[in-house]
Amino acid sequence: MKRPIELTEVGPRDGLQNEPGVIPTDQKVAFVDALSQTGVQEIEVSSFVSPRWVPQLADAEEVFRRIQRREGVIYSALVPNLKGLNRALTAGVDKIAVFTAASETFNRKNINASIKESLERFRPVIREALAAGLPVRGYVSTAFHCPYEGEIPPGQVLPVVDALLELGVEEVSLGDTIGKASPADVRRLMDVLLPRIPVEKVVLHFHATYGMALANVMVAWEEYGVFRFDASAGGLGGCPYAPGASGNVATEDVVYALQRMGADVRVNLEKVIQAVKDLRPHLAHPPRSHLYAVWMGGT
Ligand code: HMG
Ligand code: MG
Repeated sequence: MKRPIELTEVGPRDGLQNEPGVIPTDQKVAFVDALSQTGVQEIEVSSFVSPRWVPQLADAEEVFRRIQRREGVIYSALVPNLKGLNRALTAGVDKIAVFTAASETFNRKNINASIKESLERFRPVIREALAAGLPVRGYVSTAFHCPYEGEIPPGQVLPVVDALLELGVEEVSLGDTIGKASPADVRRLMDVLLPRIPVEKVVLHFHATYGMALANVMVAWEEYGVFRFDASAGGLGGCPYAPGASGNVATEDVVYALQRMGADVRVNLEKVIQAVKDLRPHLAHPPRSHLYAVWMGGT
């Protein structure tokens, strides 16, 4: 018996951090509020990172202050250090996510730290978040491929996963940061990861650059029973420090595909597409999603 699908909507964070311009705060708030009505379990609203590193999300506090929280939805944010945690606690986030990588070069470029340094940096962050009653997610970026180091073997991912779990994260989100993974890569990692950790602690975060993200979701769900995925409305997304990264797999495409495959996905497609449609005038490019193209003519 497969578990109901749980989606974390990362569009407001992963999506809007990678737009060439800064989306006005009003539109961010409206986007989050619209996504709150779709049925997704969690919305990654923003990041409490350095505004010099990611100016697109410098208004994280204001966005949190102005969104209308819907009961039952978790409103989370990225936090890189104690300064970020303090900002997040003041803003009243429900959950935080710390983020590191399986590749040293990418981690250095993204958060200016080695993997070991980043884990040390997270130790007090996670301790204080847990003490404040907040659950913590740990991201492992470049879990399949790195824009600088190429293919990343599972043996390089597992120790980072173990270290994060040891520090107290509730779940690990494995990032295909530049969207290059294939189902064969997913199988390779799941074959060694899932015997070690319970499937409910595993979240998969696929970017769609090479067109394989949906296939990866299908394989993970059908063959391994993975039921937690990150996705982004409109297929927005990418990391400013990962050259070549395009959008996340689109929420509406994941919902449609999984529903057609018989999965229990309690997300309203129409409402996701409406959220994207309302944001569209503020985006520099058309949304990258099959469903949006079908419904809206791809404009
Ligand atoms: P640093 O320059 O080494 O840090 O950056 P620092 O401690 O020397 O601080 C530099 C300045 O930033 C100081 O300001 C700090 O106060 C300030 P100054 O005194 O010079 O004016 N600062 C902060 N300000 C606000 N909030 C903070 C904060 N921290 C420091 N939290 C740092 C290190 C980690 C801060 C920086 O590298 C950073 O913010 N990086 C974030 C990069 C990022 O957000 N990348 C995208 C998200 S990850 C991603 O997209 C991948 C994912 O989607 C999964 C996947 O796809 O694989 C999650
Ligand atoms: Mg990402």
